[in-house]
Amino acid sequence: KISSISAYQVFDSRGNPTVEAEVVLENGVRGRGTVPSGASTGQFEALELRDRDVQCFRGKSVLRAIANVQDIIRRELRGRDVFDQAGLDQAMIELDGTPNKSRLGANAILGVSMAATAAAASARGEPLFAYLGTGDLLPLPEIQITGGGAHANWRTDVQDYLLIATGARSYAEVMEITHNVYHAAGDILKRRGSYFGVADEGGYWPEFKTNEEPLQLLVEAIKAAGYEPGRDAVISLDVAASDLFDEESGTYQFGLEQRRFSTAEFAALIEDWCARYPIISLEDPMADTDWEGWQMVFQKLGRKIQLIGDDLFTTNIHRIRTGIEKGIANAVLIKLNQIGTVTETLEAIRTTQQAGWLPVVSARSGETEDTFISHLAVAANAGQLKVGSFSRSERMAKWNEVIRIERALGERARFVGSQIFETILP
Ligand code: PGA
Ligand code: ZN
Repeated sequence: KISSISAYQVFDSRGNPTVEAEVVLENGVRGRGTVPSGASTGQFEALELRDRDVQCFRGKSVLRAIANVQDIIRRELRGRDVFDQAGLDQAMIELDGTPNKSRLGANAILGVSMAATAAAASARGEPLFAYLGTGDLLPLPEIQITGGGAHANWRTDVQDYLLIATGARSYAEVMEITHNVYHAAGDILKRRGSYFGVADEGGYWPEFKTNEEPLQLLVEAIKAAGYEPGRDAVISLDVAASDLFDEESGTYQFGLEQRRFSTAEFAALIEDWCARYPIISLEDPMADTDWEGWQMVFQKLGRKIQLIGDDLFTTNIHRIRTGIEKGIANAVLIKLNQIGTVTETLEAIRTTQQAGWLPVVSARSGETEDTFISHLAVAANAGQLKVGSFSRSERMAKWNEVIRIERALGERARFVGSQIFETILP
């Protein structure tokens, strides 16, 4: 039984305040959860409650969310069965009473939800992944090589240029291929005099003249590391197109190249990139309100490319169901704090899988040392994990945790690598 719940302010990878919650059981067992924070957030996400008092942490403090845990959530959940995760989450949802968790704050609710899971796992003497589910599948990582968009002051318009090590036969081999390609890309940038450190998620700071140049860099880096593009390693893009879409004119804009596109033109550009580069996956190629654009992209690429909705679905079961009915994507990005409870996140993954689509468990651009998502990816047999790049410890903590989970699973651990795409790409 839960004996007490507390919350306090800690700081994320951008140095911004965030919520950490702690759940203590009657037998003294404890669990903690630390909430991440996005920068290119979708408009349909659950609400992250910030105090907006410019005198306090430049408006970014989360003291009200913390007070909501201490004053409201604590009272409601004290004495309850910590193993009833669905009941705990449902109680917080009802206590909040809004569709987007705007009264208590999704950051308050999620902190407690994660902490309760951690405490329950600990009480059972199980690792988090074993408590969360029966899964045994090690995820195939999507790893950022250059960052852009809201994570790099708009030096490129496209947000993430990522690598997927499709040739890897084990998780260890993914790590090796990624290490080699990531550093090869760094060497190339140094040689060109365009190495300027890293962006928010640890990918290289993008010093390019066009949004296409990073694609060339990736192909070059894969080759320079001794691999064959298209076979051993391929490209994945998070266009984060909601950030490029001007609702009023209905156009997409590339600030870097001073170009403007209609929906059809933007879809054609994306299609052209997919024809000329070994791209296997596209996230948010269209804006979260441009369902027609999504339809267009899906018609052209839906049989060849993984099409992931992030801002489009915001881990929201209703939005995912609408997407499934319309048949406009084949994968869903899964972020705990977009929806705000562990139970709803697991449901979102299940809904995705039941439709024959692929879930991609994801971190946020503002991250912490919490490794919950590594466990979630394995527990739910998600098959893919996206955590940003291959540097900075808030990122590496997640990749490393999968190594530990693999050890804990022992003989049971499975890795299917790029075969995961066979589900959606015939
Ligand atoms: P965010 O970026 O955490 O800033 O939203 C991640 C993503 O768009 O996938
Ligand atoms: Zn995204």
